[in-house]
Amino acid sequence: MDCKVKDLSLADFGRKELDIASHEMPGLMAVRRRYAGEKPLKGLKITGSLHMTIQTACLIETLAELGAQVRWASCNIFSTQDHAAAAIAARGIPVFAWKGETLEEYWDCTYRALTFPDGSGPDQIVDDGGDATLLIHWGVKGEEDPSFLTRKGESEEEEVILALLRRVAEKDPGHWHKVASHVRGVSEETTTGVHRLIRMAENGELLFPAINVNDSVTKSKFDNIYGCRHSLTDGIKRALDVLLAGKEAVVCGYGDVGKGCAEALLNERARVTVTEIDPICALQACMAGLRVSTVEDMLPVGDVYVTATGNCHIITAEHMMKMKDQAIVCNIGHFDNEIEVARLKAVPGIKITSIKGSECPVQKFTFPDGHSIYLLAEGRLVNLGCATGHPNFVMSCSFSNQTLAQIKIAKENLEKKVYFLPKELDEEVARLHLAHFNARLTELTQEQADYIGVRKEGPYKAENYRY
Ligand code: NAD
Ligand code: ADE
Repeated sequence: MDCKVKDLSLADFGRKELDIASHEMPGLMAVRRRYAGEKPLKGLKITGSLHMTIQTACLIETLAELGAQVRWASCNIFSTQDHAAAAIAARGIPVFAWKGETLEEYWDCTYRALTFPDGSGPDQIVDDGGDATLLIHWGVKGEEDPSFLTRKGESEEEEVILALLRRVAEKDPGHWHKVASHVRGVSEETTTGVHRLIRMAENGELLFPAINVNDSVTKSKFDNIYGCRHSLTDGIKRALDVLLAGKEAVVCGYGDVGKGCAEALLNERARVTVTEIDPICALQACMAGLRVSTVEDMLPVGDVYVTATGNCHIITAEHMMKMKDQAIVCNIGHFDNEIEVARLKAVPGIKITSIKGSECPVQKFTFPDGHSIYLLAEGRLVNLGCATGHPNFVMSCSFSNQTLAQIKIAKENLEKKVYFLPKELDEEVARLHLAHFNARLTELTQEQADYIGVRKEGPYKAENYRY
């Protein structure tokens, strides 16, 4: 079979959860129904690199229903729900994902998802964090300058990517130029992936058009905030069954994700401190009644640390050496470089005890002075590594935007730039979810529309969406 999953016999279980999800994903199902006749993705090959969860399975089936030929890999080694992958594989959609991949397996899965049976690449990409996009861009760079592939990688993961690209170069020289030249566009799910795209566009390196799905209001102000508000504490509790009430919790970064995390911890009655570099976000934290301090100042008292910055070296090995005994350390940002895990493992005399397997990765690190800390999901996103990510309803908003972005790429001849989805579509995604709450919108009169200077039918004002 053209797939690689953990256990195909989990397909029935996956299908049952997909049925439940479809009721909690009203927007995605409405978009599916609206375009089912027209089939705007007909004949298009789509590769996805996005957490292979039950909610993603609903997205995959939507893209397939709209006519696409889909191949999928996860965008994190721990985030696949094996029953979701099995349900998708069982209906004949090639999926390459299982929970607990090695880095070599992960990048091989990404490569296989990008390679259709005739050896060609995709017409369109759904990316989360930018790994599928990166593989193509690095492949092209390596074909232009072979020394790019023989250089020393800056991390273990880079070494794995370079080794894969060297193998492809040997087997099929020119492969990535062919692939890149056929890609019509990518829709990017997350903040960190969008940052990568913007950097590529600024450097004149972007090889195909991109749509920034993250910054649709119905994505970042919902998924990043309300999604994390649900799934952060789900992950911590599944990992350690710990009572959060009264604990000193430190949230690093008070952007969208950090705001959701802080609220989740407050709801558990933890005492929350925020660390920030941005004075506006820091002031917002103050106005939310939170303490703002630094990681260094919190080390003597912090019980739980959560990184949510999308930045690197937020919690260093030296920080962890000075933490309280039994402190819990986890990350909810996209990549695993927020916590210095490699340097932690290299501390002389450190003892590492694995508490649970890859189903819910929890490790205890005991330092030579006798104190220990717990590291969740090996420093990868804890909500997907130790729990099942955001719930259906939130992902319905995100994936309605993803589907609309894929349709836009299919229908329009976009330039090699980073685009937003239009505000009208953002409002449409919100509209599609209101009935679920029996919410009734007030209709603007023409006189009122003129008075506040908007069109009667929208779009309305962006300032209203600030959190
Ligand atoms: P954001 O840009 O809104 O927020 C990041 C915040 O971190 C900013 O306010 C920034 O000032 C702050 N920051 C940067 N460096 C810092 C430092 N050294 N110390 C303290 N604060 C610092 O981004 P976001 O949308 O909140 O996303 C954060 C990360 O989470 C990204 O990697 C994103 O891709 C990821 N994400 C994860 C999930 C998930 O389900 N796990 C969901 C959405 C986004
Ligand atoms: N990101 C966060 N939660 C997710 C989920 N449940 N499925 C896919 N991507 C996610």
